[in-house]
Amino acid sequence: MCRFMSDKALDNIRFPHSHLLGTEGLTPDVISLLLDRSESYVEQNRQADKKKSVLHGRTIINLFFEDSTRTRTSFELAGKRLGGDVLNMSVATSSVKKGETLIDTAMTLNAMHPDVLVVRHNDSGAVKLLSEKVNCAVINAGDGRHEHPTQALLDALTIRRRKGHLDGLLVAICGDIAHSRVARSNIHLLNTMGARVRLIAPKTLIPSAIDRLGVEVFHDMNEGLKDCDIVMMLRLQTERMHGGFFPSVREYFHFFGLDYEKLANAKPDALIMHPGPMNRGVEIASEVADDIGRSAIREQVEMGVAVRMACLELLTANLPTSGGAKP
Ligand code: NCD
Repeated sequence: MCRFMSDKALDNIRFPHSHLLGTEGLTPDVISLLLDRSESYVEQNRQADKKKSVLHGRTIINLFFEDSTRTRTSFELAGKRLGGDVLNMSVATSSVKKGETLIDTAMTLNAMHPDVLVVRHNDSGAVKLLSEKVNCAVINAGDGRHEHPTQALLDALTIRRRKGHLDGLLVAICGDIAHSRVARSNIHLLNTMGARVRLIAPKTLIPSAIDRLGVEVFHDMNEGLKDCDIVMMLRLQTERMHGGFFPSVREYFHFFGLDYEKLANAKPDALIMHPGPMNRGVEIASEVADDIGRSAIREQVEMGVAVRMACLELLTANLPTSGGAKP
């Protein structure tokens, strides 16, 4: 399926926000705009010549206070493929290590006139706070357990390309929901687009107020996976856990790890997804993760670059064309 917007059509459509901080509050039209635009980049990224000059003259700074493989590299590739200058700020070698605060770091970078700051931070809300202090566009690349909007967009693009639509689909998000910004961003986006979301996890890994988000909650994989179209697995985020959330990894896999036996409850053509990094044998069996007929995990990574190109393009289209970001 390839229905996307031409460059010309884009001239008349604007992304109605200065920043991309979350999927909460994005309308179906805005989500569709981002996904349609991403489609054109999927095609472009498969060509030998992947370069465009949409971001010519623009500066994008990747500011990651937490580890990342996929998100940081795909933002870097996205910026470069659109002809922008991309700088990766490594927190390990920056003045953050000398005690500089988040806001001081942001203000220092802001003084160098970047057009986009892509920020990942371990505190929920930190990226929004930063966006209120700088003059450029800010993209949330994951803040604590709050939101990770580009992950939800790339997941949606993957699903839409495989299933043709998002509305009416039954999506199971399984595992460590409590610590997952991926789960939150997906819940908002999928609900907005008319999909039905089920969460499957042990009681200790479901946040208390989650039912307010319009989801069904299950604590049994076999029950929760029944008739699902999409099975999205999440990593146990032990780095965010203080105390015992589950008895042992072995027991966790037994009850909540995705293997073929549990998967048999979902629809026969159910798609398997995982945002990565995967812990094989913990939340997912290796043979299921590598099942080329059913797993879309590699495709999710491919879609990540296209989605980030669309986000960078649409956000910078809102910036002034002379003088860079607002003074
Ligand atoms: C996720 C994240 O960082 O929130 N990974 C990612 O961006 N691909 C999920 C995770 O770390 O488990």
